[in-house]
Amino acid sequence: MKFFIDTANLAQIKEAHELGILDGVTTNPSLMAKEGIKGEEAVMKHYLTICEMVDGDISAEVISTEFKDIIEEGKKLAAIHPNIIVKVPMIKDGIKAIKYFSDNGIKTNCTLVFSAGQAILAAKAGATYLSPFIGRVDDSNWDGIQLIEQISHIYNLQGYKTEILAASIRSALHIVKCAEAGADVITSPLEPILGLLKHPLTDIGLAKFLEDAKKTYAPALAGA
Ligand code: E4P
Repeated sequence: MKFFIDTANLAQIKEAHELGILDGVTTNPSLMAKEGIKGEEAVMKHYLTICEMVDGDISAEVISTEFKDIIEEGKKLAAIHPNIIVKVPMIKDGIKAIKYFSDNGIKTNCTLVFSAGQAILAAKAGATYLSPFIGRVDDSNWDGIQLIEQISHIYNLQGYKTEILAASIRSALHIVKCAEAGADVITSPLEPILGLLKHPLTDIGLAKFLEDAKKTYAPALAGA
């Protein structure tokens, strides 16, 4: 399973990248706004900076909602860097645009996905990635992980090549459950990724090992 970080914050991207486990980055207009990035030029420059930091797939979302405009905007985004993945919303014109991009060698991430029906349509259109928003599904009292399982089952059965990119991740447990459910990729904020590191027995065990090391082969640690 690939790991993407879901942020436009450069410090957090750097921190995740330094862990050595990062395969890509996803952004969306809300995440860009959170970083105070304003104007087309600044947005394009920010995407380029991210592409230069991380050698992996970098999702950049279109804000157009009509076919012709999505195509024009998507081409501009794709021209920033070869690793750009054009993120397109799950709407009628979005599906048409995904098909166009797929036929013209531009990779896509179909976003705002909340059902298996939408997942089938995106795969038929040739989306590279599909982003089911599992946290938002959970928020509406449905089961986000069950949705990943259902889509994974359908994609395997039908031989669809679209990769399931579980998005809207809220916890380390979500990441583990996505791995079990058959997600190809998770995109997560930094905190749940770092949450995977944590276990109280690791902390207790390490404290004891370091304490005992002072008695044996690490006199420097003991301040000797
Ligand atoms: C990423 O591709 C999505 O835009 C993002 O994960 C949505 O997350 P949220 O539901 O926490 O806003």
